Amino acid sequence: MIFTVAIDGPAAAGKGTIGRAVAERFGFAHLDTGLLYRAVGAKVAEGADPVAACALTPGDLARGDLRSAEAGQAASRVAAVPEVRAALLDFQRRFARREGGAVLDGRDIGTVICPEAEVKLYVTASAEVRAGRRWQELGGEAAPLPYATVLAEVVERDARDMGRADAPLRPAVDALILDTSALSIDEAVARAVAAVRARRG
Ligand code: DC
Repeated sequence: MIFTVAIDGPAAAGKGTIGRAVAERFGFAHLDTGLLYRAVGAKVAEGADPVAACALTPGDLARGDLRSAEAGQAASRVAAVPEVRAALLDFQRRFARREGGAVLDGRDIGTVICPEAEVKLYVTASAEVRAGRRWQELGGEAAPLPYATVLAEVVERDARDMGRADAPLRPAVDALILDTSALSIDEAVARAVAAVRARRG
């Protein structure tokens, strides 16, 4: 059984949480494609050639520093390099069409990696809500950064991801838009699960 759930959207909208929950619910494999770009970005930040850096090892993907805001910015920068996107394409496509079903979350899954995906979701939320969630994850009042800095980073990353020439972030024409600004995690997951169930029958 081949069945792909493509989940795209801006940083901190809830794609990862929704993707993991959907994959678990249906027994599908899950790929956080942002992690690929984060791992490449981290290697490039250390001086690697961007295309050579795309030959990723399991160790590259298991580095402890890939979730940081700096890693997110480094990822967003290398993600604008067409040769990097091209080098990561095949792996993602094969993952999407693997036997047994797959959920991929990222920025261009429904538009470029797997336009034939059976279900496409565009998960979004206002920049303020997304920055607020990120800031809470970092510890809220105890976070090392003020909320305003987190918000500025979210806005900067959105602009770069949506403004790049190659595979910019945008909803696929046939994507279901899921705005999580006013939804709990459980509500957002329930809507995504319902969309998959409606298509699977
Ligand atoms: O989802 P994330 O925040 O981990 O992604 C980090 C960066 O990687 C994001 O700002 C843009 C880039 N990215 C991309 O261009 N295409 C994807 N499919 C996934 C991530």
